[in-house]
Amino acid sequence: MDAPRLAANQSWHRLADRLARQAGILNAASISAKFRQLRQRIGRRQPAIERIALALYDSRRGCLRNLVDSDHDELQSLGSGFPLADWPALAALVRSGTGGLLAQRPAATSTNAERLCQAFASSVAHPITLDGTFFGVLLFDSATVDAFGAPDVEEIGIYAELLSTMVAQELSSVQMFVGGLQLARNLAHLRDIETGAHLDRMAHYARLIAREIAAARGLDDEFVEHVFLFAPLHDIGKVGVPDCILLKPSSLSEEEKQVMDGHVALGLDMIDRMIADFGLSRLPQLELLRNIVAHHHEYLDGSGYPQGLAADAIPLEARIVATADVLDALCCRRRYKRSWPMAEALEEVARMSGSKLDRECVAAVLRCREEVEAIHRRFDEGTASHPG
Ligand SMILES: [Fe+2]
Ligand SMILES: [Fe+2]
Repeated sequence: MDAPRLAANQSWHRLADRLARQAGILNAASISAKFRQLRQRIGRRQPAIERIALALYDSRRGCLRNLVDSDHDELQSLGSGFPLADWPALAALVRSGTGGLLAQRPAATSTNAERLCQAFASSVAHPITLDGTFFGVLLFDSATVDAFGAPDVEEIGIYAELLSTMVAQELSSVQMFVGGLQLARNLAHLRDIETGAHLDRMAHYARLIAREIAAARGLDDEFVEHVFLFAPLHDIGKVGVPDCILLKPSSLSEEEKQVMDGHVALGLDMIDRMIADFGLSRLPQLELLRNIVAHHHEYLDGSGYPQGLAADAIPLEARIVATADVLDALCCRRRYKRSWPMAEALEEVARMSGSKLDRECVAAVLRCREEVEAIHRRFDEGTASHPG
């Protein structure tokens, strides 16, 4: 796999991980109820277990951030987070990927360590992974010192496997949803709706713009990465546009243009159905995806479609994607037009600044001309359908 594609795959992986953690947070009450049930059921065999907990790992910050446990319906925050390095025995279990005994408490006496361990004196820990990524640690805790012997650790390991499966099931809709998004992105390419190169380029331009304006706009890395991942899905609604219009070699009639413009509503409908089908409507990150699909053809002066939104009413992520998309569409050879040289495309984008396209986004493109040209050179050109 080439480097850009590998990086994109890793980004999808991180998105799945992030959404799963978010879903874990939202599903805390249901996970906690399952922990309680299990604790009651195994109470006679394992009376020393007083709490079952799942500490959720935040891969971006490299620490355990939240706790779902059998004592609380709500998610418990570990404040600024608990770095695994503060509990070497736990870090070693995570590295080995196997469960085991934690007889020693963490040496650090931070508030976050107290929140994680509370008054428990010994624990059996079991790292869990989702789709190959470390996701969190299951903890079976006791207030008794040396409460667990080797046979207990083994038996608890079986319960931990069951709970891992249960948590994975609880969160599997997220994995499936992200898989669906990847599929949708590839589908657009396979059906010759856009060339893969156009999608790659415009996603990279969009990321470049987002990064450039991040400091001034207070955007975090997660926003930048989500713009990069979701940008290639902007025209996903085109899968519902008939080939005779989509692939027409000449310009479109007024009626055909209306059908083509309908790709925005179709795309939004597809995304909304997927979000609803997978029960993920409460995940805030997906609003960014909806905004990109819904508003990538809106122009600052209100002359865009479908809603004719103007200025700040157009979400920033859609303004970023619109700039990236227009720039690359100009440079693309279409069935009915030649490709523009980059210098001319940049001039045209500069002309559209402030009237059609966001000033800051265009300024970012013009500032980073060398990087823009490098991205342009990196991905091969092909012939694409109507821009829509
Ligand atoms: Fe579009
Ligand atoms: Fe496009």
